[in-house]
Amino acid sequence: MSILNVYNPLSIEVDHGDGVYLYSKEGTRYLDFTSGIGVTSLGHSHPSLISALKDQAEKIWHCSNLFKIENQQIVADKITKNSFADSVFFCNSGTEAVEAGVKAIRKYYNYKKEKKFKIICARNSFHGRTYAAISASGKSKLTDGFEPILNGFKQVDFNNSKELLKKIDKETAGIMIETVQGEGGITPAKKQYLRDVQKIADDNDILLFFDEVQCGIGRTGKFLATEWVKELKPNLVAVAKGIGGGFPIGALLLDKKTSKSMNPGSHGSTFGGNPLGMAVANEVLNFILNEEFLDHVREIGYNLRKLLKEEIVPKFPKLVSEVRGIGLMIGLVALEKNEILIKALIKEKLLTVKAGQNVIRMLPPLILEMKHVDEAIAKIDKAFSNI
Ligand SMILES: Cc1ncc(COP(=O)(O)O)c(C=O)c1O
Repeated sequence: MSILNVYNPLSIEVDHGDGVYLYSKEGTRYLDFTSGIGVTSLGHSHPSLISALKDQAEKIWHCSNLFKIENQQIVADKITKNSFADSVFFCNSGTEAVEAGVKAIRKYYNYKKEKKFKIICARNSFHGRTYAAISASGKSKLTDGFEPILNGFKQVDFNNSKELLKKIDKETAGIMIETVQGEGGITPAKKQYLRDVQKIADDNDILLFFDEVQCGIGRTGKFLATEWVKELKPNLVAVAKGIGGGFPIGALLLDKKTSKSMNPGSHGSTFGGNPLGMAVANEVLNFILNEEFLDHVREIGYNLRKLLKEEIVPKFPKLVSEVRGIGLMIGLVALEKNEILIKALIKEKLLTVKAGQNVIRMLPPLILEMKHVDEAIAKIDKAFSNI
């Protein structure tokens, strides 16, 4: 084995993708409800993304942030025009976007001036694999063997603002949570909880940092999932996955006050905001920032969840108990071991991915149509009937 043994891949060897379908080397066609774990938001091999990438490849691949990159400015402008953000920092993955946000929180208060550095996070969260990210999550599965982890992170129960309030002291600088917990089992933050968190942040001079690496960029039917609660005023939001449609891109969105505390040299990335990635992101945003596209995500997500609730859960009460999620970020809570059900779905050529709390996670491409929803329901019905 020449690949480091940190993954446990399925035996399917992928050959190519087309829209919502993935094809194996042997030519088997799968309906792909994984989207590369929430990445291929416009499906596989989207013609507009292919031509954006090809056109850019013929001009320039890489030049670094030593130079001005036109598409980087265009993408940043699109994001700031359509969100709370005042500026955007580009990087290459979700965990880097989280890392940048943690640094921005600490830099804003600047430990040498104000002794504020602690960040309160949620149990059962996932923020990636850098030291800041594993320290924030605090899950032993992520930290075991890698200690000592980074200082200053505390975890409280998700959706519990009372416990959060109790953990605050004068050294608390930030609160970081996923707006919808993804890896942890597709658990949306409750609206009232988010309003309470906003009040706690306002009352205690604390920055609010939302990790939308999985739930952002249209996945929930809003550009950012924080938009579901209009009172929410994020200071920082991390995105990645869907913004590149498959090209590795991460981004930290910063409000005015946190933007001001960062300056040339305070952070950076060789590849962040590179011409190839920005050409693709620009095209992805042309679709996702369109209100009709977001309407479609909300509608198709609603229909998929409704059919799961009305046709699958009542028919298989020993196998599944509940449907969770928003938009096209959906979790089917399993009663049988989720891995067994996921294997049965693969047999019927439907790909899903497991999540915490014994959940079968569905993150289909956002271009999903009703005929694919019907196809998925038929496959689930058949797979579960065979168990
Ligand atoms: C909420 C969240 N944050 C951060 C990450 C890390 O992203 P990446 O794997 O791109 O580093 C993930 C990845 O699944 C995630 O779901």
